[in-house]
Amino acid sequence: MQQNLEITDAPKIVVAIDGFSSSGKSTMARELAKRVGYIYIDSGAMYRAVALYALRHDMFKEDNTVDLEALLPHIPELSISFQKKAGEDGVQHTLLNGVDVEDEIRDLEVSNRVSLIAEIPQVRQRMVELQQEFGKQKGIVMDGRDIGTTVFPNAELKIFVSAGLHERARRRWRELTQKGMDIRFEEVLANLAERDKIDTTRKVSPLKKAPDAIELDNDAVTHEEQMEWLLKLFQETTENIENESRG
Ligand code: DC
Repeated sequence: MQQNLEITDAPKIVVAIDGFSSSGKSTMARELAKRVGYIYIDSGAMYRAVALYALRHDMFKEDNTVDLEALLPHIPELSISFQKKAGEDGVQHTLLNGVDVEDEIRDLEVSNRVSLIAEIPQVRQRMVELQQEFGKQKGIVMDGRDIGTTVFPNAELKIFVSAGLHERARRRWRELTQKGMDIRFEEVLANLAERDKIDTTRKVSPLKKAPDAIELDNDAVTHEEQMEWLLKLFQETTENIENESRG
């Protein structure tokens, strides 16, 4: 059985985990949060919820650009929150205006459009505000693209997860087909490549490693090795902070 860390007296920290789509960062982040009793926030789910909102309200134009005039007035009033589902081993679901949209935000239609939403400065500004609010009390693990650079530049522990495009596409294709989706590997690969391009080249908060982030090459390690490494780093970080505060 997995051992959870005894952290009752330890100082609470912020853990920022950034990386490319399907690099395995969410699995790591979720498991770390569970093992150390922290809150887990999937920041990508928040951008996905906005993309779903825009899709449902016909806010994509025919040329596949976003109808900003229609979307922007609604951004301040959008409510995005998370709720743990009973009976699913504490799996967290995303709520958009109070309604569970966890399945819908994972659809390919949302995946194909979300980068267009995530590059809108006003959307990013609102999401960052909400994310910073979630992290106010610390004791949080958040994963995304700009968590260590923009959302929590002072996070005590920053990880940057890298993995090759093909391996990430294989992982994503397996996930989708296991869910029963009929999709070709090439389509998943093309979608990831396109998202990488938009995520790394957008003007506001492009995906990049924070100078003080520790890099993990996720192609080279097993899940167990990854978790052992991460838990050790977490423990060292909290111990160092505790020692410093004792003088
Ligand atoms: O991690 P994901 O694939 O669920 O993220 C969905 C999209 O949101 C992806 O295109 C990148 C974007 N994103 C972002 O720009 N900033 C974040 N902090 C998290 C996700």
